[in-house]
Amino acid sequence: MSTDEQGRVAIVLGGSGGIGRAVARELAATGHDLFLIARNQARLEEAAKELRDTARGVRTIAGDLADPEAVREQIESAAAAAGRLDVLVNAWGGIARDHAIRARPASIEDNIRDHLVAPMVAAKSAALSMKRSGGGLIIQLGSIAANEAIGGAASYGAAKAALLSASRSLQREVEKHGVKVTVISPDRVDTPLHGEEHPESSAMLRPEDVAEAVGFVLRLSPTAMVEEVTIRCRGDR
Ligand SMILES: NC(=O)c1ccc[n+]([C@@H]2O[C@H](COP(=O)([O-])OP(=O)(O)OC[C@H]3O[C@@H](n4cnc5c(N)ncnc54)[C@H](OP(=O)(O)O)[C@@H]3O)[C@@H](O)[C@H]2O)c1
Repeated sequence: MSTDEQGRVAIVLGGSGGIGRAVARELAATGHDLFLIARNQARLEEAAKELRDTARGVRTIAGDLADPEAVREQIESAAAAAGRLDVLVNAWGGIARDHAIRARPASIEDNIRDHLVAPMVAAKSAALSMKRSGGGLIIQLGSIAANEAIGGAASYGAAKAALLSASRSLQREVEKHGVKVTVISPDRVDTPLHGEEHPESSAMLRPEDVAEAVGFVLRLSPTAMVEEVTIRCRGDR
């Protein structure tokens, strides 16, 4: 059976959230079978319901992605159930806010676990599966905080900077197997992530802006490799 007949398979970590849900819509529209993973089953079902008209298939898995061993198991079992894996989008997680001058070890560790350790484990698990089926695309959600100092995001930015570095290493190691790795680094996106500290929505990016970037990277020829896409808010600084 060809890939087109069988369907391409994508996993969206955080597929019920602001960015993940918009990315899932993009992947559904481009003919992917979807696995959405996050903690809250009701919100996952709500996202899946919206996608069922356009996606070839949508399956949901409720689980805590902060546990690296669980991340590995979930990715491996989703890929095994589908028989292949073509796309992984890592779009889950919140921010443990801290300033460098006041950062507690606990918030530093939370950010490193959620934005470096778990995403690296997810990418490694996906890359091993993609190698077996001849290639694929891994997208990590980075942040502009990786490259510049943002107040209250000291260890979050540090984790995202390390993720960018780790993603470049992974790319070098797996490109010969047809696996691409891209980091999308947005400015502030209008999602529930910002909670009470929500800046003005009209000044922020839309989740769909990030989804468009995923679509762009997906549509490129097999030769074209994008290491990082940075999306800024116009007139922000
Ligand atoms: N929004 C921004 O301004 C912005 C800018 C740059 C980068 N990013 C990055 O983009 C990614 C997604 O952010 P977002 O703005 O879309 O956030 P969001 O709207 O809050 O969505 C987060 C998603 O992650 C899931 N999630 C959170 N903690 C989880 C856990 N422990 N285990 C499993 N799933 C979990 C949530 O579902 P449950 O709560 O049900 O688990 C939800 O589906 C993050 O990596 C963030 O750092 C965001």
